[in-house]
Amino acid sequence: MFSRAAARALKSQSRQFSSSATRQSKVAVLGAGGGIGQPLSLLLKLNPHVTELSLYDIRGAPGVAADVSHIDTNSEVHGYPADKLDQALEGTDVVVIPAGVPRKPGMTRDDLFNTNASIVRDLAAAIARVSPKAKVLVISNPVNSTVPIVSAVFEKAGVYDPAHIFGVTTLDVVRAQRFLAGVTNSDPKDVKVTVVGGHSGATIVPLLSQTPQGKGITGEVYDKLIHRIQFGGDEVVQAKEGAGSATLSMAYAGARFTGDLLRAINGEKGVVAPTFVKSPLFEDQGIDFFSSNVELGPNGVEKIYPLGEISAEEQKLLEACLPDLKKNIEKGKKFVQQS
Ligand code: NAI
Repeated sequence: MFSRAAARALKSQSRQFSSSATRQSKVAVLGAGGGIGQPLSLLLKLNPHVTELSLYDIRGAPGVAADVSHIDTNSEVHGYPADKLDQALEGTDVVVIPAGVPRKPGMTRDDLFNTNASIVRDLAAAIARVSPKAKVLVISNPVNSTVPIVSAVFEKAGVYDPAHIFGVTTLDVVRAQRFLAGVTNSDPKDVKVTVVGGHSGATIVPLLSQTPQGKGITGEVYDKLIHRIQFGGDEVVQAKEGAGSATLSMAYAGARFTGDLLRAINGEKGVVAPTFVKSPLFEDQGIDFFSSNVELGPNGVEKIYPLGEISAEEQKLLEACLPDLKKNIEKGKKFVQQS
């Protein structure tokens, strides 16, 4: 039998153990005042792994922070105006970047390059200086170029760890799962699609043949479904009539990927998600960033999975993806070299 004092000591010890088992995670959102940034901040406030939320934007972040901070979950929320970027980044473990301009009808993601490339470059330089060990999750488009930009900026600053930099392609996975569930009358929670390649038009390659629901789909139904997954973003851009692109579904997707990473940082094993990272898979063809299934861990990228078996149609999609992706990556790298 334990004495009451011994039982109390044991209880306090086990409480200490369980609190040290959950890491403190400070997450910063850069672009928190925007269409994605606001609902993303809301969803991150609901995530129990987030202990501190740092919201930064050149416009409106303190207001978003004041609003979100009233939600009765445990994390602390702070908002920072335009001139307080360094303060916003201090001590952050994870930085999510939805800063930049979104598409208008008729624009491709590449059309955003001129504006967003410099926004992302400058934010990356601040992260490399203030919080060089943070994991960086890039949402700002064109992701195929902005991830190489962040990586090149970190490299220039001498603090590059390829395991720490991610392009968020989760919205392609979310769309693929929702749309495939729609055509097969399935519940989306039972549909798991891996999407590989990049994050724009023809560079988005959904591997439907690897799912029980998708493998029998052929012909016109297949072609239409692939087109809808690749160009689903255009549906939203058109429906919003010039007022922006996907924000709510993107915030959901961004919060989901950030949540996956935080679970892995907190020691959960076997967390695997497609994401656009520095990758050896197509390096022999001069393509050193690629999205495929990645196992996440405390240090970020733990393991990059190969594509596995793919169908003849998917092989064709991949062949169409690679040249575009190569151009997008090179454009990003060149931009930093010339800056
Ligand atoms: P938005 O215009 O509503 O918000 C962007 C925010 O970024 C604004 O609040 C703006 O003040 C802020 N911002 C601009 N320059 C900044 C800087 N230097 N530092 C900090 N904040 C800055 O745009 P929205 O709809 O939120 O989209 C943001 C980005 O996300 C766009 O580039 C868009 O293309 C991209 N996107 C990415 C997706 C993906 O799947 N990865 C899906 C949908 C959009």
